[in-house]
Amino acid sequence: MYRERLQLKPGLLICAARAIFSQERGLNASLPKVVVTRRLPGVSLSGLSERVALAAPPPESPMPPEELLGLVPGAAGILCTLADRIDASLMDAAGPSLKVVSNFAVGVNNVDVAEATRRGIRVCNTPDVLTEATADLGFALLLAAARKFSEAERALRAGEFTGWDPWGFLGVPVYGGTLGIVGLGKIGGAVAARAGGFRMRVLYHNRRRLPPEQEKSLGAEYRGLDALLSESDFVVLCVPLAAESRGMIGRERLARMKRTAVLVNIARGEVVDEGALAEYLAEGRIFAAGLDVYEKEPEIHPSLLAAPSAVLLPHLGSATVETRERMGRFAAENLLAVLAGTEPPCPVN
Ligand code: GLV
Repeated sequence: MYRERLQLKPGLLICAARAIFSQERGLNASLPKVVVTRRLPGVSLSGLSERVALAAPPPESPMPPEELLGLVPGAAGILCTLADRIDASLMDAAGPSLKVVSNFAVGVNNVDVAEATRRGIRVCNTPDVLTEATADLGFALLLAAARKFSEAERALRAGEFTGWDPWGFLGVPVYGGTLGIVGLGKIGGAVAARAGGFRMRVLYHNRRRLPPEQEKSLGAEYRGLDALLSESDFVVLCVPLAAESRGMIGRERLARMKRTAVLVNIARGEVVDEGALAEYLAEGRIFAAGLDVYEKEPEIHPSLLAAPSAVLLPHLGSATVETRERMGRFAAENLLAVLAGTEPPCPVN
């Protein structure tokens, strides 16, 4: 749709990118070398090419790790996505020329930030611009899972809608429920704001409790994680992936949730034990789940695919035209700022 809106075809885009690439390669050998790992909304290749030498035309699909490894030697910058692993071995391959890793995402769990910091490489991300879009999607998943949208639509498309059914696809009420937000940062706060319209009581859990005035303005009450899980009708995961959040929602934690509860994950798949979640859904030990992220993307646990009460989306949190364009502009600005020796708009380290 986005391509249609721009009236561009992938083939034409690749040709245009190749033209820019070959032209710049010849003319601007003195410019800093940059690897852009994928064609991205909002990242103007012609704009970038005035300031950097693109190592290769950014591909339409994820760049295979070995290709990235082959392109980075001598690069000063990498503009990458959450699908690219930027670790010590990639930094070794790039060598001492590498100054900046600009991630087209707010989460930077795909980048070894500690290692980059140790080497003096700046890491940047794209927060803020995606907060509202991601919160919209989290709330959409909450509603969809609570009211069985996916299961009911699948049945309708399969020709199984034979008339209004007083027993069909009965969900759980959202209005007036208790919402537990794990990770009340910017996105979590935006989810909390949406809950106001549904007259929900909002609980939250963070590593560090927020100051009372912030709790008050967000209308959120602090709980330990276990208490939040047992009190909430809806649990929305918004935590960044880090050592302390990896595997945070495992079997024992799922066991604390109400049988009527809905789990929504818009954070990272690795926060949840997917196998355990699939079992809980299959056994009706929680009501439903709405997931946008997965442990081993793009693979989905087969038992989740088989769970009718799971609403599954292909990592769409920030996927609106405006948001993705803003992310791209932001990612390019971060990259160019570091290469120009100035402070990037959004540094992580
Ligand atoms: C998306 O998941 C992001 O981190 O931006």
